Amino acid sequence: MDNNDVLLKVENLCQYFKMGPTMELKAVDNVSFEVHKGEVFGLVGESGCGKTTTGRSIIKLYDITSGNVYFEGQRICAGIRSYKDAVRAAKAEYRQEAGEVKKLIKEDRKNGVTEVRAEYSERLKNAEEKLHAVMVEQTANIKSAKFDDKYCNKQYAETQMQKVRENFEPQLAALNPESAEYKELEKQFKEELRLAKKDRIMNKMQMIFQDPIASLDPRMTVRDIIAEGLIIRGVRNKKYIDEQVYKMLDLVGLVPEHANRYPHEFSGGQRQRIGIARAIILNPDLIIADEPISALDVSIQAQVINLLNDLRNSLGLTIMFIAHDLSVVKYFSDKIGVMYFGKMVELATSDELFAHPLHPYTKSLLSAIPVPDPDYEKNRKRIVYNPIAEHDYSVDKPVMRDIGNGHLIYCNEAEFERYKAEINS
Ligand SMILES: Nc1ncnc2c1ncn2[C@@H]1O[C@H](COP(=O)(O)OP(=O)(O)OP(=O)(O)O)[C@@H](O)[C@H]1O
Ligand SMILES: [Mg+2]
Repeated sequence: MDNNDVLLKVENLCQYFKMGPTMELKAVDNVSFEVHKGEVFGLVGESGCGKTTTGRSIIKLYDITSGNVYFEGQRICAGIRSYKDAVRAAKAEYRQEAGEVKKLIKEDRKNGVTEVRAEYSERLKNAEEKLHAVMVEQTANIKSAKFDDKYCNKQYAETQMQKVRENFEPQLAALNPESAEYKELEKQFKEELRLAKKDRIMNKMQMIFQDPIASLDPRMTVRDIIAEGLIIRGVRNKKYIDEQVYKMLDLVGLVPEHANRYPHEFSGGQRQRIGIARAIILNPDLIIADEPISALDVSIQAQVINLLNDLRNSLGLTIMFIAHDLSVVKYFSDKIGVMYFGKMVELATSDELFAHPLHPYTKSLLSAIPVPDPDYEKNRKRIVYNPIAEHDYSVDKPVMRDIGNGHLIYCNEAEFERYKAEINS
């Protein structure tokens, strides 16, 4: 697929939480993936593996520790830990080299050589230059990361304003400034410019939160909940807002009469629909749906999935769908990422993952899916994943490796060879 089609790119994302003065919890550790336009990307893994944290990091609810997130090619999140680590490593290397050279000079002195040998000065000079180069490079990286992280919305608003100007200015230039037509167009131009100034790249992605009860303010009416995004965005036209709210209610299968009610008057499935309506009113490109159905009855689960699927087609949405088991994402996702304990352990297209699951954790998740066949079910064995027994990473270290067809797997060299044999057998 064309690289221009990448809507969301997550690159070496790390989100570490401080747990006391020295401890850190690596909730998300070096996770990378890409989501193409129009795709549904399923992110699965057991409770606590870092799925929600990944979603919340992408929409900037946290300052990420390290890595980058790009949306439509623009960097929206950037952590600086890796750059700081590079500086620290370079300083340590410099200290080591300088220490060794000093030792050699000292030995020379002991042996009566008072002059510092040229090769020693050369080594010191090289070490200094190397450190300096790293410092310059990483300082620039840190500066640009901080800038992009902080001003991504502002940069986006500026490009949007520029687009509005480019659209209106030539049209205005062709008209007589005294004409009514000019005045009307100018009014429209000013209004669009005002809205573009408030446009936020972060509005292009919306999250549907895991808990439909906690994520809706009980004191707000459904209308106010759904309209909130528009109002924050600076829309003032009440009639337009009402129209949009009704349109969203209709899209998610609710009726206008629901607008004046409060969240507690709705069932779980309906609340999730309200959450979806709130998410789509700003016309986002990406929806991050965080286990939108796990709190619902099975029959309602299918309805919400169908709704998301319909919206994906009618609104051209790209969806990142978080779930804790594979059965839910199987038919709905184009691509699936499996997370375990903060790490992405396997990443492949949905078809590929189900045809050739390789990582033992993926296999264990698959073995948990019930099959509508009583004979098979009787004998179905759940595979339990035990990482300590499964992997020996003491010497041969694991990284993400591509086994072909964009099928990525977190493994060491020895496992990689084994998986390759397995996939070809
Ligand atoms: N704000 C926070 N501060 C500290 N630790 C956190 C924070 N948010 C999450 N965690 C921890 O990070 C880890 C990952 O949590 P996360 O909520 O991302 O998991 P999850 O995969 O979404 O799980 P679930 O399926 O239960 O929703 C957990 O150990 C959690 O306790
Ligand atoms: Mg979660």
